[in-house]
Parts: sequence; C-alpha cells; structure tokens
Amino acid sequence: MQTVGISPENTTIPQEKYELGKITVVPLSPAIGAEVVGVDISEPLPADIIVAIKQAWHAHLVLLFRDQTLTPEQHIYFSSYFGTPQSPNRTSFTPMTEKYPEIIEVMNVGMEKARLDRSLGNAEAFWHTDMSYKDIPPAASALYALEIPPEGGNTCFCNMYRAYDDLPPDLLAMAQDRTAVHDASRNSAGKLRPGFVDEKDPRKTPGPRHPLVRTHPETGRKALFLGRRPYSYIPGLPVDESEALLNCLWSHAGQEKYAWCHAWKVGDLLLWDNRCAMHRRDPFDAAQRRVLHRTQIAGDRPY
Ligand code: OGA
Ligand code: MN
Repeated sequence: MQTVGISPENTTIPQEKYELGKITVVPLSPAIGAEVVGVDISEPLPADIIVAIKQAWHAHLVLLFRDQTLTPEQHIYFSSYFGTPQSPNRTSFTPMTEKYPEIIEVMNVGMEKARLDRSLGNAEAFWHTDMSYKDIPPAASALYALEIPPEGGNTCFCNMYRAYDDLPPDLLAMAQDRTAVHDASRNSAGKLRPGFVDEKDPRKTPGPRHPLVRTHPETGRKALFLGRRPYSYIPGLPVDESEALLNCLWSHAGQEKYAWCHAWKVGDLLLWDNRCAMHRRDPFDAAQRRVLHRTQIAGDRPY
C-alpha cells in the first residue's frame, strides 16, 4: 500500500482525493480532516480496511464517515479498532449511558436542569483537548451525530503537529522543556465542575502537568500540546511570564491556517486524534435539539 504523511520524515498532507488500499480518502482542508467514502462502519471491517483507515487517520488527524446508522454497540465496536474504549467517571447517568458506560451523550436536551447547567448545553466550547485534565488523556474520541440543529454547533479542529513544526525558534526554545497545568476545575464552556472551587490564581489551578511539546506514540511526530487556555499555568515561571508565553503559544496555534470547521449532518461520525488535534464548538440556539454520542479511546501518558 502507498504511504501518506504519518512519520517525522513524511509530513505532507495529501490535498487531492486518493485511494489507499481499498478506501477512498477525500481531504477536507489543507490543514486537517478528511472524509472516508463508502465504508459502512456499522459492519465488522476487514483488517486491511482498518489498516488503511488508521493510515489516513494519522495523515489527516480527523476522519469523517457520513451517512452512518450506528447502534451504541456498533459505535463502541468501531471505536475499539483504535484502542480500548473508556468509561469515564460521571456523576449522573441516563438509562442509555447506564447500559453503555463507554458512551457520553453530548446533548442539550433530555437532562434534568441541574445536569444541563453543568454540561456544555448549547454553549460555545473553546479550543481544548478532551479530558487533558486527566493524567492520561484519551488518545481519541469518536463523535456520532443523531440530532443536529439547522444552524450553529459546528465543530472545528486544528492541527497541532503543524503548529509545532512552524513554531518560531524563540518560542520553541521557551516551550520545549516546559510543562503546563491543564485545568481540571472547569469544562470547555468555562463552567465549574462539581466539587471544585472557583480559583482564579493560575498558580493554584488543579490539574495534571503535561509537556508543552509531546511526541505522538504511534507516528513519532511532535505536536504542541496546550489542552485549554483558561487558568493554564507553566510551573517554574512567574505568573506574568507564564501568561505571556501561553498567550504567544495560543495565538500561534490559533491561526486559521491550522484549522478546519465541520458543519454536521445527522449520521456523521468524526473520529479525531486527541493527541495532535484540538477542537472547539460553536454555540447554537438553545431552542434547538442537538444530540451526539461520543466514545473515547484510552491513551498513554503524554511524553
Ligand atoms: C465535547 C465536545 C463537541 C461538539 O463534548 O468534548 O468538544 O461538537 N463536543 O459538541
Ligand atoms: Mn471536546
């Protein structure tokens, strides 16, 4: 099989539609994201197709599979090709997630008010890595759309390999042997999680320290690893220097040339690599329903 950009030596991202073994891959932007055409992921997949999907995934970081009809079992089964589906600890459940603890319902309906108030609801979610507030964040997430509003709620992704490859030398020198604290106390809409206090001093932010530059365990490539901006802190630096360096790194990584936004349709599944891509979500009208199911695949400690 031909190879596409997945190693430290081969970092080019194909821009035109191409065949990879038995799959067809359609790049969706110069920076990140590709559609895999014509694969029904509800069916068990042969090994050669899984290999091709993984190769395309490592090259494009985010894969889109359209027009899928998946039961929770099929969604979990598909996720298991990429590692071990995780069951995150949660404080409240619906009957669906009680039966399938590997699935998180990303939705703005069907919850008691108290739970809705703690969830993303219809809010904007700022740039983040899923669950980077854990010592071992997931390697990947697979988000499947069941109900989608007519507008709003787009999800955008950015390529953190590219952000790393392009780092100006002075920024690289300041970042490369440092860590950052990833805030565990608030979600990606900025809401305080249960059991945490509203601490404003970044030096007291609860959460793990992760390297600012991490190596992807499968591709061997280096990526900038920022997690989430609010209340992040670079240990060992005075607060003003930490803030200044984080602001520089974030404004570099946040450039449009590294990003792509997806407008969802029902039946879309997006599989993203949480180790080398960040994502964010646009807000949407609270009167509209938006329901997605997410699985997450166990990762390694970032290094
Ligand atoms: C999340 C998330 C994106 C979306 O649940 O962590 O980022 O499009 N969701 O809802
Ligand atoms: Mn997320």
